Amino acid sequence: MPGDDLRRNEGPAVRLRRLGASAVIGLFALTACGSGDSGVLAPTPKPSGPTTFSVKKIDGLDSGSELKPPRTTSFAETSWSKPRYTTQRPDVSGYDTLNAAVEKQVRSWTETYTKDMATASQSDLTVTWETAAAAGGILGIRLISHTTAADAALESVTIYGDVEATWTSADLIRPDKRNDLIKRLAKELKADTPPDLAEAARTALTDITFQPDGSMVVRVDQGALLPYSEGAYSVTIQNPQQYLSDDGVRVMRATMDTTTQPTLPPVTTSAAVAPHVDCTKTKCIALTFDDGPGPYTSTVLDTLEKNNAKATFFVLGPSVQGNPELVRRIASLGMDIGNHTWSHSQLTLLAPETVTDEINRTSAAIKAAAGVDPVAVRPPYGDFNASTAHGGLPFVLWNDDTLDWKNRDAKQTTKLALDQAKDGGIILMHDIHASTAAALPDIIAGLKQRGYTLVTVSDLLGKMDPKKAYFSRTDVR
Ligand code: NI
Repeated sequence: MPGDDLRRNEGPAVRLRRLGASAVIGLFALTACGSGDSGVLAPTPKPSGPTTFSVKKIDGLDSGSELKPPRTTSFAETSWSKPRYTTQRPDVSGYDTLNAAVEKQVRSWTETYTKDMATASQSDLTVTWETAAAAGGILGIRLISHTTAADAALESVTIYGDVEATWTSADLIRPDKRNDLIKRLAKELKADTPPDLAEAARTALTDITFQPDGSMVVRVDQGALLPYSEGAYSVTIQNPQQYLSDDGVRVMRATMDTTTQPTLPPVTTSAAVAPHVDCTKTKCIALTFDDGPGPYTSTVLDTLEKNNAKATFFVLGPSVQGNPELVRRIASLGMDIGNHTWSHSQLTLLAPETVTDEINRTSAAIKAAAGVDPVAVRPPYGDFNASTAHGGLPFVLWNDDTLDWKNRDAKQTTKLALDQAKDGGIILMHDIHASTAAALPDIIAGLKQRGYTLVTVSDLLGKMDPKKAYFSRTDVR
């Protein structure tokens, strides 16, 4: 078709197109609206010209959304036994059917992966999420699945919903137009027309989003239309109205509503006036919480605050974006914030530039949420070596593992924490488990009884060397 804009970028360093900053959608538009149209929506878009397609290769984890997530809880689950995986998914208040659809997709990935990778020695699945649309009562959640197994694979699925219903990405396309769209996508990607168009629609139309200018982006997973070795592509379609179902038009209109997000006031840190503990003279120990913030972080913070205890939270980027208020509360209580990477991958399996990107993106999210910089990085699974990139921050590990992720038992977690407690020690816990939150009052009481002052890692370790890894105050490698 004349006017087609076919750009195919084959370079391995090319990243998926990032959506413009104007894509930021207001939080309150989501929380204030129920289902159905509201007065804030853009008028129904009319095609402003011919339907045109452009193609771009997708490379890396960053799928490019600049949208701020809605007020929500991010659930994280980590399996430390092999095959390893970490999943994060949102749980949005009032969007029960969407939450269920999101959970089902994540579960389907982990189940398939666990089955496929049962015999693999080194494998690592991470599922992260981001907001693809949030306005007019409509919410779009993009789930990104990434494995660092031998043939790294990237898959993404975007699911939409309002308070009553959910739609798959394919639902945004008129049923009588899906075959046409598949044929056209195959042509743009220089792929053969699939023999089974219905099956191709099922695998290729899983991640459809809209940009503020009304263009539609179809992300075609590896192996969906092109051979697996060709990688994943995004195809941007200008003036896509002819393909859209009624639900597709609703989602498009919601995405074109570019209400800006209210900015958060700066954090005031109460600890700034509190004297810091001198751990060279006092018996100190550091409680650390990984993989959050999540559903139990508030309870953990309540307990810490009530007991005048400090701790350090090693947070994941998507959970920071999903729970900015929690991150701000952590900072305002004088706790340390540490960086636990973006996707919780095993860092020794990633390229150095990917590790740096994982750390930098997470640091930027922490800064955006709470206005503070992370004090250290904790590599997921404690996995690093001498050549692992560290983003200019020290690694902080632990010497007291409560195994809370495994035992999920408050009594056992408490016993392990107290039995291994040492002066200058670092205790590993996860604020994503109810049992850990339940164990905390007894752990704090037990440690205080043994004469410990509960401090942040920066109080425990003093000035840290960014080239070193700290397992305790005396075990520095
Ligand atoms: Ni972790």
